[in-house]
Amino acid sequence: GELCSFADSATVIKQWQDVSSPGVAAKVKLSCGHAIFAKLFEMAPAAKGLFTRVNVADVNSPEFNGHVMRVMGGLDVLINYLGDTPTLEKMLDHLAKQHAVRDGVTTAGFGVMANVLMASMPQVVEGFNPDAWRNCLIPILNGMSVGL
Ligand code: HEM
Repeated sequence: GELCSFADSATVIKQWQDVSSPGVAAKVKLSCGHAIFAKLFEMAPAAKGLFTRVNVADVNSPEFNGHVMRVMGGLDVLINYLGDTPTLEKMLDHLAKQHAVRDGVTTAGFGVMANVLMASMPQVVEGFNPDAWRNCLIPILNGMSVGL
């Protein structure tokens, strides 16, 4: 079935494309990603321990930058596939399995992430439409949390 309505997905894709246009995309994703992780660690300090492998001890390290870009790149692709439910669902399955194998990753953590994203996105997305974003992001995060 649909993850969010056609109208909501169109709004979110359009608003996200305005942010992630070539040239600014990499910079916005990195700074936005850093802000998102900073907020995640502020709200759930214990989550920091999940990211030792990617050198969370130095959040400005190449290793952690790389992690931030994998996550934001993942989010970027998911948002852009909101209009293609079968492919989106397969990508969510894949991401769910990648997260399920990591000890300590919990649905509660994804709940915190939902709040962090809803609080952070308005700072980069012009004319942020909270209903459309919530309607589309929550199923994405739920789809990624299956099996946790
Ligand atoms: C790794 C995406 C939320 C914990 C990853 C990877 C991607 C990704 C693409 C790399 C996969 C790999 O190389 O195996 C996302 C997206 C999220 C999200 C798009 C939501 C918008 C979360 C949350 C948590 C989490 C909420 C914890 C509560 C992890 C961990 C890793 C990881 C522990 C492995 C880090 C490592 O390489 O050691 N995530 N993630 N993720 N994610 Fe997420």
